[in-house]
Amino acid sequence: MAKTMEELVSHLKTSGFIFQGSEIYGGLANSWDYGPLGVEVKNKLKHLWWETFVKKNPLNLGLDSSIILNSNVWKASGHIDGFNDPLIDCKKCHNRFRADKLVEDFDVNAQAGAMSNEELENYITQNGVVCPKCQAKDFTNIRQFGLMFKTNQGVLNDESSVVYLRPETAQGIFINFKNVQRSLRKKLPFGIGQIGKSFRNEITPGNFIFRTREFEQMELEFFYDEQADQNWFEYWLNEVEKFLAKIGVEKTNYRLHDIDPKDLAHYSKRTIDIEYHFPFGWGELWGIAHRGTFDLNAHQTLSKQDLTYLDTVSNSKILPATIEPSVGVERLMLAILWQAFHEEEIEANNSRIVMKLPYNLVPYQVAVMPLQKQQNEQAKQLYLDLLNDFDAVFDETGNVGKRYRRQDAIGTPFVITYDFDSDQDHKVTVRNRDTMEQDRIAIVDLKTYLKTKF
Ligand code: GAP
Repeated sequence: MAKTMEELVSHLKTSGFIFQGSEIYGGLANSWDYGPLGVEVKNKLKHLWWETFVKKNPLNLGLDSSIILNSNVWKASGHIDGFNDPLIDCKKCHNRFRADKLVEDFDVNAQAGAMSNEELENYITQNGVVCPKCQAKDFTNIRQFGLMFKTNQGVLNDESSVVYLRPETAQGIFINFKNVQRSLRKKLPFGIGQIGKSFRNEITPGNFIFRTREFEQMELEFFYDEQADQNWFEYWLNEVEKFLAKIGVEKTNYRLHDIDPKDLAHYSKRTIDIEYHFPFGWGELWGIAHRGTFDLNAHQTLSKQDLTYLDTVSNSKILPATIEPSVGVERLMLAILWQAFHEEEIEANNSRIVMKLPYNLVPYQVAVMPLQKQQNEQAKQLYLDLLNDFDAVFDETGNVGKRYRRQDAIGTPFVITYDFDSDQDHKVTVRNRDTMEQDRIAIVDLKTYLKTKF
């Protein structure tokens, strides 16, 4: 059956995955809180990423750097000077637009991304660009809108105490490159991975958890000698695609977008965006960027610290190049939740909502339920025993049909029912979420049965 984003958002709220942020106070625009089920999916996703890109990859290591860094970090990275958008208001209807986007929508060949604010303003007046909302041609001047959240550290409230919430986790890695390399005596090539919150004062957040002002990133910065080896970009692109397969993101739902050189970010020599087919259209899911030596070079220049690597074979100093696969946790979650969300007709006038989540990302692997109150005690014992080996939940309220529906709706792959006969035959019924088929399994064999499924 056709599904919509609104239906997904509503389902995720009522079943305990994702709530509107600050809801009892009328909400806070575009903020979302992860409920008991959402946080389980999120943690499993982060854990899988960490296992794949950090722990089980022999070349890589992990890091957890601060959110608030010395402001020079953002000077060197280009964020203080360049991480902002040119905004313009329509004087008639007071709608606000990104000036470069306004020009680009008017004429794709105008190359608005390369224009200065003055050039954009001139273009808009000279070519009679109209407001997309009210068709007026009268605009304000352009103002730069900084995307970093600014605050003050310490008691002084002046320019000297200004700090920023990080807009990406990547820079925390670059400034620790030398610490990691030295302390762990790493040889090139090697990578440093990090998971953590990032903050951007986005002008146009929205599409549920796709673009928010507070989000989590999972970033890997992979350092190597560009003279020695040039295949790392393809290698990491391939690893990312393997990871997507592992979490059930179907190849038919994403595409690779090789960014046109004129549209590349200031730090990038090449970027491929993996774009996912979200309910609102194609959107960037995961970026793989070739950052060259931009970051280490910028930090070396501003900090005046030697960030080079001594290659003991050639006895020469190298400034390593970097490949960066970078993804937002919530965006990946949206793709997974959207793909999993199904409403199925199971018989005439009877349908079910089922979250067909991949087994490695489900909030609960098994639910245990007594058929009736009389079996509560035995079912509870079984549940407590299963908890030692599985993510299990005990479900005792409502009739059996309702409980099956409830577990389908949160993606629990197996529901175990302890019934009248279980006391006699020491067996339970195991129902499969996707096929709805039921197996009768001896309690002594239950764990082995379930283990073969996961
Ligand atoms: N270090 C490189 C970097 O941050 P980016 O393309 O700006 O590059 C990387 O962001 C990834 O972070 C994106 O592909 C997306 O998955 C996620 N992301 C970026 N901005 C986001 C936002 N406002 N809300 C949610 N996720 C975001």
